[in-house]
Amino acid sequence: MAQEAVLGHLKRNQEISDSGVFSQEKGIDHEELVNAIKSLNAFGLVIASDIKREKWLLSEEAQSYVKYGSAEVLLFEAVPAEGTAKAKLQEIVKSKLPVDLDDKTKSLIYDKGWAQAMKNKWIGLEDSQVSRKVEHVEDKVKDLLIQIQNGEAVGAKDIDTLKRRKLISLQIWKGYSLKKGPNYTATRKKAATDLVRDHLQRDEWKDVEFKEYNFLAKGQPTEGGCLHPLYKAGLPNFFVKQQIQMIFLQMGFEEMPTNNYVESSFWNFDALFQPQQHPARDSHDTFFLKGDWNLILDLYLGGYGYDWKREEANKNLLRTHTTAVSTRMLYALAQGPFTPKRYYSIDRVFRNEAVDRTHLAEFHQIEGLICDRGLSLGHLRGVLEDFFSRIGMSKLKFKPAYNPYTEPSMEIFSYHEGLKKWVEIGNSGMFRPEMLRPMGLPEDVQVIAWGLSLERPTMILYGIDNIRDLFGHKVRSSLNLSQTHAHTKSVFVFISPSGDF
Ligand code: PHE
Repeated sequence: MAQEAVLGHLKRNQEISDSGVFSQEKGIDHEELVNAIKSLNAFGLVIASDIKREKWLLSEEAQSYVKYGSAEVLLFEAVPAEGTAKAKLQEIVKSKLPVDLDDKTKSLIYDKGWAQAMKNKWIGLEDSQVSRKVEHVEDKVKDLLIQIQNGEAVGAKDIDTLKRRKLISLQIWKGYSLKKGPNYTATRKKAATDLVRDHLQRDEWKDVEFKEYNFLAKGQPTEGGCLHPLYKAGLPNFFVKQQIQMIFLQMGFEEMPTNNYVESSFWNFDALFQPQQHPARDSHDTFFLKGDWNLILDLYLGGYGYDWKREEANKNLLRTHTTAVSTRMLYALAQGPFTPKRYYSIDRVFRNEAVDRTHLAEFHQIEGLICDRGLSLGHLRGVLEDFFSRIGMSKLKFKPAYNPYTEPSMEIFSYHEGLKKWVEIGNSGMFRPEMLRPMGLPEDVQVIAWGLSLERPTMILYGIDNIRDLFGHKVRSSLNLSQTHAHTKSVFVFISPSGDF
């Protein structure tokens, strides 16, 4: 609309001398007109030249002077002909001011009016008595302000006074004057953004006006970087990282640093009393890496009752379980005066497995341990019942098992109502003294610990039968676990002590 008005006007006239005046005449918003001008200018339909105008703006105070009179005149007029006590003046002034002014404004008018009327010598103060010193005053300030508001010229001295009284301030107004441009046409063809098939088929491409590329345009914000479904906490009963994390925190556990995927064989196996001939240390099960850490402790050298080889312990690998992190943490703990600890971690581990529907070469492990004096298998069972009931698995069974580093060891089973069978959900045990004593932990200190994968219970819970739907490069980041297989969900309902989930 604005574009047509400009082009139409230029058809009959040489120029538009002032976009401000033009916008008023045509009833077009000036900002809208400016946008139209910029576009027409860019395509050479018009030539626009900047106009800058200085404009004086009235402050709020000045606007009230225009409406009611200046403060000094209001004050002068409030002083009775016979004079009054100074103490009473403020009240008199306020009582004479328009009722629609609030008390703060009234006080301000009184203060300003008093100062200005005294300065003008309109009033005088003797022995606490205020009296008029002139018979009649004219509201020059109000008149000046009205002139300014109407855009009339006002002398530099007056402008200066009003500016100093902060009644007016300068505003720069920007507009344009316009002439026809080299590409002027009275009616503008809509510029095409792209060359399309029609342009070619109808031979229009020769005449089409193309929009220029705007290389400075910001473009659409990219949508990306969402949390992995396995990491998200959702409502009402997601079995995922953040929720497990919350359960550990509620149970008073601290998180262990798990940011080292590369580990030495020493911390992953040797420090855990796992012999160097153990089948898990075969490259068929573990990913070994080149180079070594040399981070092993002399403490362990030769202490295993077999031909222990330092080179074997030095070998780097991708950690096969987060118990490697637990070992480091226990060793660090043993270096200071003993304090009981509860530690947890949830992070990746790597195993050289044949990948199938239920196995991946990398997955997540949840690990928890408590290190304290006088712990027993009873404590371990109690903690496991507490922990698993919080993720909705309250029917548990324990089966004796074997781990090189725990004695006794227990596999943990949970009854799955949907599948009508017991399913293995984790592994646990009490760390062996052969592991703890060489680290320097006191003799009466025990460590109870357990580990489980993050993926397995999540798969059971949501009826996902292919682990690759949950982890790995094929996972849809929009995967909404709460929509999968509702029948299995009712089995494990999150029950938290705070009722938060
Ligand atoms: N590290 C064991 C695993 O990888 C789990 C475990 C942790 C067992 C702590 C006992 C104690 O399966």
